[in-house]
Amino acid sequence: MALSERNPEAARKLTEELCIPTWYTDYKEMLEKEKPDVVHICTPNNTHFQIARDVIESGAFAYCEKPLGMDSKETTELAQMVIARGTKAGVNFNYRQNAMVREMHERLYGEVNDLLGNAGEIYAVRGHYLQDWMMYDTDYNWRVVPELGGVSRTIADIGSHWFDTVQFITGHMITKVFCDMQTVIPRRKKPTTQVRTFCGSGHGLRRRGPLRAAQLRPFRWLGGCLEKYDR
Ligand SMILES: NC(=O)c1ccc[n+]([C@@H]2O[C@H](COP(=O)([O-])OP(=O)(O)OC[C@H]3O[C@@H](n4cnc5c(N)ncnc54)[C@H](O)[C@@H]3O)[C@@H](O)[C@H]2O)c1
Repeated sequence: MALSERNPEAARKLTEELCIPTWYTDYKEMLEKEKPDVVHICTPNNTHFQIARDVIESGAFAYCEKPLGMDSKETTELAQMVIARGTKAGVNFNYRQNAMVREMHERLYGEVNDLLGNAGEIYAVRGHYLQDWMMYDTDYNWRVVPELGGVSRTIADIGSHWFDTVQFITGHMITKVFCDMQTVIPRRKKPTTQVRTFCGSGHGLRRRGPLRAAQLRPFRWLGGCLEKYDR
């Protein structure tokens, strides 16, 4: 097992934390020397296409974080490469592994016992994907830079999670999207140093502390009555 991280300091720290014996700062060198069976691509969105191409060409299976590419041209090319080579590849939508998501799917389609698989017809689906770690104009991350995160942060970067979760639970494919978008914070203050994901910048961090919130919950108690709270 090996890890590639372009920042050597971060690479050293990560290998220690994760007990990975070898690290590289150049993933191509890692592919050449380690000849891995599978590579999990966890780099910013704008690098997925090139790295996934190189991984597939090296003969390894590519397992890429969402979104697979910056646009459908990139994702189509990757899908065609995989089909043409008869190899295996995947995109990670980790909410599929959430216990409540799996239970919702089982309630609709499960065959384990009589209690499952009996939820009935689906007529409508409602949901939200809420995040608050970029709430202040001092919060900053590569995700809000279109050249790094993609032109469609709401739809492709985080919306892709919502789409995939709904498709996985219901077994139905989304075929059309109608949307009305608004950029709530049109100008952000870029910090002078790199900001780690989900940590906000110095200003927001001092006020709130790092926040990791459970992002999927079917309901919760609000003001004494049970309200639907789907995020
Ligand atoms: N499935 C999920 O729930 C989920 C959650 C968070 C992030 N993601 C995805 O994971 C990816 C990474 O997000 P993150 O929040 O961890 O980003 P991050 O900025 O915290 O980490 C990315 C790391 O990649 C390194 N890197 C950049 N280019 C590299 C290269 N060419 N070779 C080696 N290392 C390189 C950077 O130095 C950085 O340490 C994104 O595509 C994001 O959409 C998925």
